[in-house]
Amino acid sequence: MKRNHCLFALLICLLSGIQNNYAQSNNTIDTLQTKWWKEAIVYQIYPRSFKDSDGDGIGDLKGITSKLDYIKSLGVTAIWLNPIYSSPNDDNGYDISDYRNIMKDFGTMEDFDALLKGMHQRGIKFIMDLVVNHSSDEHAWFKEAKSSRNNPYREYYHWWNAEDGKPPYRYSLFDVNHDAWMYDSTTKSYFLHFFSRKQPDLNWENPALRKEIYAIMKFWADKGVDGYRLDAFGFAAKDTTWPRFPKGFEENFSLYYSMQGNLHGYLQEINKEVLSKYDVMSVAEGTGNTLEDAHNMVDANRHELNMAYPFEAVDIAKPEGYSLLHFKEVFSKWDSTFKDDGWLAVFLANHDQARMVTRFGNDSAPFRELSSRMLTTFIMTMRGTPYYYNGDELGMNNIKFDKIDDYRDVESLNMYKQVKDKGGDLQAFLNAQKISARDNSRTPFQWNSDANAGFTTGKPWLKVNPNYKTVNVVAEEKDSSSCLNYFKKIVKLRKDNLVLVYGTYTLLDKDNPQVYAYTRELNGEKILVLLNFSSKPAIANTNIDLTSSDLLIGNYTSANNTTALRPYEAVVYELK
Ligand code: NOJ
Repeated sequence: MKRNHCLFALLICLLSGIQNNYAQSNNTIDTLQTKWWKEAIVYQIYPRSFKDSDGDGIGDLKGITSKLDYIKSLGVTAIWLNPIYSSPNDDNGYDISDYRNIMKDFGTMEDFDALLKGMHQRGIKFIMDLVVNHSSDEHAWFKEAKSSRNNPYREYYHWWNAEDGKPPYRYSLFDVNHDAWMYDSTTKSYFLHFFSRKQPDLNWENPALRKEIYAIMKFWADKGVDGYRLDAFGFAAKDTTWPRFPKGFEENFSLYYSMQGNLHGYLQEINKEVLSKYDVMSVAEGTGNTLEDAHNMVDANRHELNMAYPFEAVDIAKPEGYSLLHFKEVFSKWDSTFKDDGWLAVFLANHDQARMVTRFGNDSAPFRELSSRMLTTFIMTMRGTPYYYNGDELGMNNIKFDKIDDYRDVESLNMYKQVKDKGGDLQAFLNAQKISARDNSRTPFQWNSDANAGFTTGKPWLKVNPNYKTVNVVAEEKDSSSCLNYFKKIVKLRKDNLVLVYGTYTLLDKDNPQVYAYTRELNGEKILVLLNFSSKPAIANTNIDLTSSDLLIGNYTSANNTTALRPYEAVVYELK
């Protein structure tokens, strides 16, 4: 249904008080619970790598502001920025030393205000990363906390006194020894860090800490931010009786870390104290261990968050590949859990995943662009809010570093040290990193064919992908069949057709190992999506007659109106 038709229908329905024929469908316009954040198309910007305005080799806020017209031209309606707060950058901003200030590398609060104003002037919303499972060890709270056992800030963090022996083992994702307890000699105690040693975990059991966080959230909401992405929040509640976990628990640590104790209580308090008081949206990173956990977080009746951001699908792509049958099963399962209420984010990449086309498509020369556009078609035609990672609109792919010296990410660097210390196979490690390392998606954004892809006039903090000479905004803007122009078209298609936002999703041809086929339906309107996920021709067995259908978009330059699909072909039909 076209958006204006939809609003018109709602108006008629309200004025007449008569149940129109929409009411016979299970998805009526008045039961859709329409929201701006459901209709949003979120563009994720990794600020360190987007655009450098001052030649220091690091992207910054003024750089983003200078590119707002480009972002607007994409048609996206919201931006999620990775953290921009003051940080010593142990984990590229996910270690915050001052929640009310801007990282020096990125600029000043004035730069932030100008950026926010520029977004709002262009009708683009701003979603802020909120990292409150942990702070930096350079935050004033932590400096106070570790100064003495009696310091009022001590209880902002988790401690274990050395006289009580070694603390029960906790796994750390980023610590070089994977030990989440770090000894601190000043107070002869260990502090907890689920991530790096410079990211001590905050103690959410402490009401004083919670109050501080709510004040921080309000500080930014008062400035006008439109939403929050809660980083690693599933880990925020801990069992502070510190039970011993079974040996080997780290293989599945999420079972022991996610959604523990009073997590839902904290989310409800965040909602009551902050979210309910502003027109802001909220999305949690990760969804716990079960579909029920995920659903509970975003069930509107529970007053917690708005949108779940599940990892199950992105986790299935391993360096050795993935199965489309599994991919379809995962997306279909998540869709059905959120069919009637709750809402999902749909994505295939972010700053913690390598490039979408390398992991889920095919980045070899003949297929990089085709498969990239096919994956874009998938993201833009699923039910849920699309989160699209910067650079994917150009078909950017993994840089695939050969040497560990090229990496900057604390995760890759520490994993390398671990493999080395254990006498493991370093070459095998480096080969796997070419597919999965986070730095693959963090290479500088490719603006043009000038030095450093026009990202910086200085030395970029991370190497630029050498394919920038051809894969860049300027070149793609000129090419009507480019990934970039395709992205703009499909964004417009989604914005013009609410069936793509709210319509029921039905999987077709479930057992086809090459083709992902599904329909989206809303109030008598029906869209068919056919995606060939393979490098071979494929047939979609949908039993749908396409003779009187309209092809809305396709990723090849020549049209196709059959269910025989060319390699990585994507087609979207309106069925009549
Ligand atoms: C998840 C973030 O997305 C990731 O980049 C970060 O390293 C961890 N949380 C720790 O904050």
